[in-house]
Amino acid sequence: MRTHITIGISCLLLPLVLFGCSKKEEPSKQSSKNQPTETVVQNNKQSSNTRKPLPKYSTGKLQVIAQPDDISVLVNKHNSLPETFNPKDLASLNIPFLASASTEKRQLRKEAATQLEKMVNAAKKDNIYLKGVSGYRSHETQKALFNRYVKRDGYAKARTYSALPGTSEHETGLSIDITGKDGTCAADDCFAQKPEAEWLAKHVQDFGFIIRYPKGKEKVTGYKYEPWHIRYVGVKIAKELTIKGITLEEYYLHS
Ligand code: DAL
Ligand code: ZN
Repeated sequence: MRTHITIGISCLLLPLVLFGCSKKEEPSKQSSKNQPTETVVQNNKQSSNTRKPLPKYSTGKLQVIAQPDDISVLVNKHNSLPETFNPKDLASLNIPFLASASTEKRQLRKEAATQLEKMVNAAKKDNIYLKGVSGYRSHETQKALFNRYVKRDGYAKARTYSALPGTSEHETGLSIDITGKDGTCAADDCFAQKPEAEWLAKHVQDFGFIIRYPKGKEKVTGYKYEPWHIRYVGVKIAKELTIKGITLEEYYLHS
C-alpha cells in the first residue's frame, strides 16, 4: 500500500522536478521570504546525523524551509531559507583560500568545516592542493553577488548559475566552492578539466560532501554544472547519493 502511494506521488511530482517551474513560481527578491509554508511533499527520511524526521520539501511552489539547521536540508529554487536564518555554529576554516576571499567566506558550519579540513589534508597526500574560493555567504553578500551577476549577464542567465538571496546553499554554511593551488579556473567552466575537479568527483563523498550540481542534472537542480561547488550532507547520505547517481532533489523525491 505504502509503495503504491509513494509511486503515485513520485509519478505526479517527477515532471515538476524535471521541468522546473514557471517564472511566476520562482521567488521574487522581496516576496520569497514571505511565502506560506505550504506542504507539497511529506518526507519521512531520517537524517543520518540527527535521526529526527526531516522537514517537508517542495518540488514545485516555493516554500520556506521549516528546519533550516538540518545538515541534509534541501535549499533550492523551490525551498527558501527563513528571512532571519543565520547558521549558529560557523567555524573558520584552516585551509588555504584565494587571497581575495573575505573572512566571512572562509567559514563553514562546524561539522562541515572539520570534514573539509580532513578532505583537504587527504588530497595533499595525493599531491592535490585544494584551495577555498567561497564558503559561507551571508544573505547580504548573496544579494550583492546576485545583483552583480544580473547587471553583468542579465536576470535569466544569472539564474542559471547564481541563486537568488535566500535560496543559496552558501547561506547555510554547508557549501563551499573549491579550486586548485594556482587559482586558475576558480568557479569557471574550465575547472572541469583540472585534476582537482577529478579528485573532488572521486573522493568528496568519503568526507560527507556531494558535487551538488552535477553534469546532466541541470533540469533537476535548476543550475548549470558546477564541479567546484560541494555541499556537506554527512557521509551516509553523500555515499548513498553517489552510489545511486542522484541529486539531493531526487533523494527527497524518491524517499
Ligand atoms: N552557484 C550557486 C547556485 C549559488 O549561487 O548558490
Ligand atoms: Zn557555490
